[in-house]
Amino acid sequence: MIRFDDFLAHADKNRLQRFIPDFERVLDERYYSRTHGDYEGWWNALQQLPAAQASQIKFDVDTLMIGAEADLDPEARESLIKGLRGLHPWRKGPFNFFGAHIDTEWRSDWKWTRVAPHLSPLKDRFVLDVGCGSGYHCWRMLGEGAQFVLGVDPSPKFLFQFHCVKKYAPTAPVYYLPLRSEDLPPNMGAFDTVFSMGVLYHRRSPFDHIDELKAALRPGGELVLETLVIPGDENTILTPLDRYAQMRNVWFIGSSLATKRWLERCGFEDVRIVDEGVTSLEEQRQTDWMTFQSLKDFLDPEDFSKTVEGYPAPARAVLVARKP
Ligand SMILES: C[S@@+](CC[C@H](N)C(=O)[O-])C[C@H]1O[C@@H](n2cnc3c(N)ncnc32)[C@H](O)[C@@H]1O
Repeated sequence: MIRFDDFLAHADKNRLQRFIPDFERVLDERYYSRTHGDYEGWWNALQQLPAAQASQIKFDVDTLMIGAEADLDPEARESLIKGLRGLHPWRKGPFNFFGAHIDTEWRSDWKWTRVAPHLSPLKDRFVLDVGCGSGYHCWRMLGEGAQFVLGVDPSPKFLFQFHCVKKYAPTAPVYYLPLRSEDLPPNMGAFDTVFSMGVLYHRRSPFDHIDELKAALRPGGELVLETLVIPGDENTILTPLDRYAQMRNVWFIGSSLATKRWLERCGFEDVRIVDEGVTSLEEQRQTDWMTFQSLKDFLDPEDFSKTVEGYPAPARAVLVARKP
């Protein structure tokens, strides 16, 4: 089983030290004592990745670069591709492993381009990325100079995708715990920057989620909230009757202004909407590495400004705020 001893050892030397018993307990409850999907199949896929030395690793570029083509012989390359294919679907990226380009469903680099210019510089910061997916953005945060990055996400397949990178950068101070934000130790007050990107609308109670993010931040720390929005004023909120863009787990989508008000209501200061835009069919699409349906299939074929359910098509906003 993938274990988290390296995280605990690092946490023992930093400001998370007093929360180690909480992390150990919740990892037992949520991870070690449970079964997870096709865990054995994913484990076997990860083991297929060759034990190679990556001659280059770049995290400050749009396509994360892990190794160069010349680092692998043909047999090792075949094993690499088989292993990576075994972790299909690849949703968040892109990555390049030893010359193999992983064209993910999402151009997560485009999101980072929208978010990064508005951040307090991440250099030397202690960062939490809630709902981190494959961890693509966690590596970008390291690429910006963060001193410690913790990503949490309950999806075990994403954990394995994260470890495809970690395998070749084992000492990088970037960690992934298979947890929900609700599972984090309460009132850590520890992180300089907390990201929540693409998570808020998956929560039945957006206010509880915002409170959790606030509790993880130190006073004066920065929240970066990226989420779905709909057009409208501060009182415009959509609660889909059933699915939204075919997703079953969407509970509330506010307008940008309503979302800003939620943050203010939860006590954040200096709340700014720094980016807004409709998701394009180029940003989220089917690829060779994600062969299931994608955004095009979730929109009204006669009118791409609507979802198949008749709601406004996915648009997203980035908000930045300060914890007092
Ligand atoms: C739309 S993806 C966003 C991934 C990444 N943050 C990004 O912006 O590209 C939403 C992620 O949130 C995770 N998620 C859902 N509920 C969560 C929760 N309560 N706590 C933490 N993560 C959660 C899902 O597993 C999924 O990986």
